[in-house]
Amino acid sequence: MSSVQIPTTTLPTGAKIPVFGFGTYKVTHKVYETVSHALALGYRHIDTAQMYGNEAEVGRAIADSGIARNELFLTSKLDNGNHDPKDARTSFAHTLADLRTDYVDLFLIHWPLPSLYGGDVTLPWPVLEEFYAQGQARAIGLSNYSIPHIEKVLKIAKITPHVLQVEAHPFFPNNEVRAFARAHGMTTQAWSPLARGRAAHDPQLSRIAASIGKSSAQVALRWALERGDVVFPKSVTPRRQAENLDVFSFQLSHSDRARIDALDEGEKGRTGSHPDTMNRL
Ligand SMILES: NC(=O)c1ccc[n+]([C@@H]2O[C@H](COP(=O)([O-])OP(=O)(O)OC[C@H]3O[C@@H](n4cnc5c(N)ncnc54)[C@H](OP(=O)(O)O)[C@@H]3O)[C@@H](O)[C@H]2O)c1
Repeated sequence: MSSVQIPTTTLPTGAKIPVFGFGTYKVTHKVYETVSHALALGYRHIDTAQMYGNEAEVGRAIADSGIARNELFLTSKLDNGNHDPKDARTSFAHTLADLRTDYVDLFLIHWPLPSLYGGDVTLPWPVLEEFYAQGQARAIGLSNYSIPHIEKVLKIAKITPHVLQVEAHPFFPNNEVRAFARAHGMTTQAWSPLARGRAAHDPQLSRIAASIGKSSAQVALRWALERGDVVFPKSVTPRRQAENLDVFSFQLSHSDRARIDALDEGEKGRTGSHPDTMNRL
């Protein structure tokens, strides 16, 4: 097994989460091989979702890895069609069965869907609180919720969400909602930290990378970590999986961080759906 030591941070629950994990969005082909390779390299935090359709193969890779369950951090997310409480419970049972585990370390509502379910972005939250109370989700949180959406959840929540997972990378740093979540004690996670690959080809990131002997992808990932976000880049390419993991032996200078901060394109830099309009079931 690998000797990579991945730092952890502490969730509001007191549990530790590796600050660096492996993303599995669009990993639909050779899922078993891809996840097995990541685990062999030393990744111990896997981010999946009901929507990705790969939980069963992720579960098979984990089972065959021989890694003890308590050495792994597993995240999944409630799919858009499952916000009704009954569907949330049924689908969550499938998630646990597919992942071959009694619990996930983190379960998130994937999208707020303000134009569906009568506009009630809080609908599944009490069910996630149930999963948490039963110990089947060791932490619970929100993904893609904007500030007004989070405020609605906070009004009805018995348990303040532990985590907010949103898109964030140099071209779309998404600072306001991340700051809001942190002010409420949540841990922030940055999805698409490589801007779905764009970061690897950006001229400014490439210049910084060349000056410190790193790759552009490593610079983007390091920037996210130094901002205090938890990240889980995805790569189906073994060489890139290893490259991405190698971000704990250097630091960015203050001036390089400022140059990366200046890549902010606001809304134009967003790569994924907008939380207000995403309504795909
Ligand atoms: N909550 C949400 O709504 C949400 C939305 C999106 C993503 N996520 C999570 O966040 C994870 C990461 O986001 P993402 O998969 O969208 O995008 P990402 O990690 O920002 O980028 C992945 C892309 O970058 C390429 N890549 C990876 N490492 C590279 C390197 N070192 N050099 C050059 N290119 C590299 C990959 O190519 P290859 O694979 O071909 O190597 C792939 O095309 C997802 O997998 C998922 O777990 C969550």
